[in-house]
Amino acid sequence: MTPIEKCLINKSTNINPIWLMRQAGRYLPEFREIRKSNQDFIKLCLNQTLAEEITLQPIKRFGFDAAIIFSDILMVPYGIGQTVQFKKNFGPSLGNLELDKLGNITKNDFTENLSSIYKLLSNLKNSKDLENKDLIGFIGAPWTLLVYMINRVSPKNGLSQDFFKDEVLINEILNLLDKFLKIHIQNQINAGATIIQIFDSWAGLIQKDFDKFLYNPTLSLVNYVKSLGVPVICFPRGISDYVKFTKIVKPSMINIDYNVDPKNLIKYLDIPVQGGLDPKILLSNKENLKKQIIKYLEIFKDHPYVFNLGHGILPETQVEMVYELVEIVRNYK
Ligand code: CP3
Repeated sequence: MTPIEKCLINKSTNINPIWLMRQAGRYLPEFREIRKSNQDFIKLCLNQTLAEEITLQPIKRFGFDAAIIFSDILMVPYGIGQTVQFKKNFGPSLGNLELDKLGNITKNDFTENLSSIYKLLSNLKNSKDLENKDLIGFIGAPWTLLVYMINRVSPKNGLSQDFFKDEVLINEILNLLDKFLKIHIQNQINAGATIIQIFDSWAGLIQKDFDKFLYNPTLSLVNYVKSLGVPVICFPRGISDYVKFTKIVKPSMINIDYNVDPKNLIKYLDIPVQGGLDPKILLSNKENLKKQIIKYLEIFKDHPYVFNLGHGILPETQVEMVYELVEIVRNYK
């Protein structure tokens, strides 16, 4: 059993496995080196050899307890046939929604479009570097993907009321996403993913119809992952009621963001917890880093807990601070 499985299945405490969201990314010089000569981010995600190398970069440096595949939540809209581009200093930019076209994609077309991701997983599955470690596959939650597919850029300034005006369109996209996210989950598990994480990065933007946009679509996917015998981690970033979310959706583990008060949460929660530390703390100093890490480890001393951040690691993070973080977590008794 891997350390994370011990937490998830045996509910072991005091082992503190660790990995970091966005651990394969821009704070690593070896990633930036590859990125320099690979301007097209989608192509890079589909380049099996490089994606494998990038996935393993943080494992080789820090010995994390899990590798998360180098891919992106927007590979699903791409796989269905919406164009996706990443523009420098701007973020993702998606093409027009041609629902006629997207609705005609078959399971086989979709699987073919993303086949390199599944090959990446099956290659990594037997990697020497991942002995006794988990291999995490992931998806974006339906709400977050709906946001990108309709808004077509990151909703950094929130959503306009216009976003909700075409209810037929919204319902069709949610149906489409439920279908293809399940296919993507199944393909990743068949290829070797040992855990699935569901990223709902924009869940905090939901202000109404929580059943429709948050609970129902996430529950459908969580139940699907469980039916395949694999643990599922949810990260509904920015929601106000994590306790209600876990009671309704019942993931195997909940990843908290840095605005959650862990002390209060733990009183009401009976499932394993992951994450919490504000990634900005890695930009401060070592004393502060230690203090904040110990705070989380103390609070979760008697609770199954996987150390992680409250959102993805920031590109400006110094590698040295990550070594420090790993050492503090590993040496905590
Ligand atoms: O965690 C990992 O190391 C695995 C890989 C991973 C990436 N994206 C690689 C990536 C994962 C799990 C994601 C998930 C993802 N992608 C989310 C959910 C988590 C979150 O951060 O909220 C979201 C919202 C996306 C969409 C996305 N992809 C955004 C908003 C961006 C940033 C764009 C920018 O220019 O700032 C990306 C790009 C991206 N995805 C990078 C990486 C390593 C950086 C690409 C680069 O080199 O420019």
